[in-house]
Amino acid sequence: MKPWRNLLLFGIAFSAAALAQQPRLVDPLRGQTPLAEEPRPPVLYNTENKDLRRERAYTMQPPTIPHKIDGYQLDKRANRCLFCHNRDRIGETQAIPLSITHYMDRDGNVRAAISPRRYFCTTCHVVQTEARPLVDNDFLDVDTVLKRTGGARTPAERIPAQ
Ligand code: HEC
Ligand code: HEC
Repeated sequence: MKPWRNLLLFGIAFSAAALAQQPRLVDPLRGQTPLAEEPRPPVLYNTENKDLRRERAYTMQPPTIPHKIDGYQLDKRANRCLFCHNRDRIGETQAIPLSITHYMDRDGNVRAAISPRRYFCTTCHVVQTEARPLVDNDFLDVDTVLKRTGGARTPAERIPAQ
């Protein structure tokens, strides 16, 4: 009888340990709410609308949008962004014109009109809010990385001293 009892006890202890080790549900959007329950929706934040161009974290970063875009039509019929950002509109609107890459096709040819692959602006450009980040972010600007590692930041620094 004794071996059976030990086996039973071992079984109970083992399942208790397994239960205790079940991974905790980690989902920044749901929080600790169990899957079967409806979580409280997070607070909606206002879109930042300071009209001040923000710093870019690296050279090919699509700049973030520093103004509201609520209600701007952006579909195959109309592009509200181009109403201000197009080359022939910036005189009046004082918006920043699209850079040359927006006119290039995938082979690098510069076209007269905006390239279709750059038509839907919000694929790359996004507005910002004052929301607390849902997950930690330890992204470092490339200049910071270079400064820390003592790397060259300008072509002049790359030329070895005579
Ligand atoms: C009413 C005119 C207007 C419209 C419409 C508009 N913008 Fe702008 N945008 C501006 C102006 C002016 C600036 C310069 C900064 C400022 O005043 O907000 C700007 C700045 C930007 C910048 C920052 C560029 C940089 O180098 O930092 C981006 C990106 C941008 N807009 C994207 C968009 C997108 C995408 C849309 C459409 C969803 C859009 N804009 C619609 C006028 C406009
Ligand atoms: C596929 C991604 C992509 C799409 C789509 C796109 N952009 Fe950009 N945009 C970028 C990148 C990357 C940059 C920064 C590097 C550069 O200038 O090419 C940029 C730069 C800009 C700038 C700053 C230009 C400057 O000289 O500083 C403006 C303004 C802008 N985009 C507006 C727009 C608007 C308006 C649309 C829609 C008509 C649009 N972009 C569509 C990727 C995109």
